[in-house]
Amino acid sequence: MTRRLELYKCKVCNNIVQVLIDGVGELVCCGEPMELLQPHTNDSEFNEKHVPVFEKDENGNDVVKIGSVPHPMVDEHFIQFIEIISKDKKDMRLKYLFPADEPRMAVNEPFDFDYSVEYCNIHGLWANNSERDEK
Ligand SMILES: [Fe+2]
Repeated sequence: MTRRLELYKCKVCNNIVQVLIDGVGELVCCGEPMELLQPHTNDSEFNEKHVPVFEKDENGNDVVKIGSVPHPMVDEHFIQFIEIISKDKKDMRLKYLFPADEPRMAVNEPFDFDYSVEYCNIHGLWANNSERDEK
């Protein structure tokens, strides 16, 4: 059984897939069941550089930064994507990032944030609820 927006990873080839529509089957890759990724929140010594932070830019637009101390963005260690999900779960935005990019996602239109997730190539999936650190 899969649920919309869940992220699954292949333990063999590191494929990551996201569920668009719920289903009853088990996701399989490289002949193995895929692993459901459960995001870290504030439960690790790596919090500061991974937990998404919600801020406003100088124009009042929403920005999601990774994290309260900017995450490294070098070839060996970088944030691969950031997603934002709306409260009604009807809207989701995805931004891919690459080494040397800034670890941030600008949102230049109104968005009713529920939470954000990001994926670090070394430290995995992290999430934060938008209300947790709005100022
Ligand atoms: Fe990391």
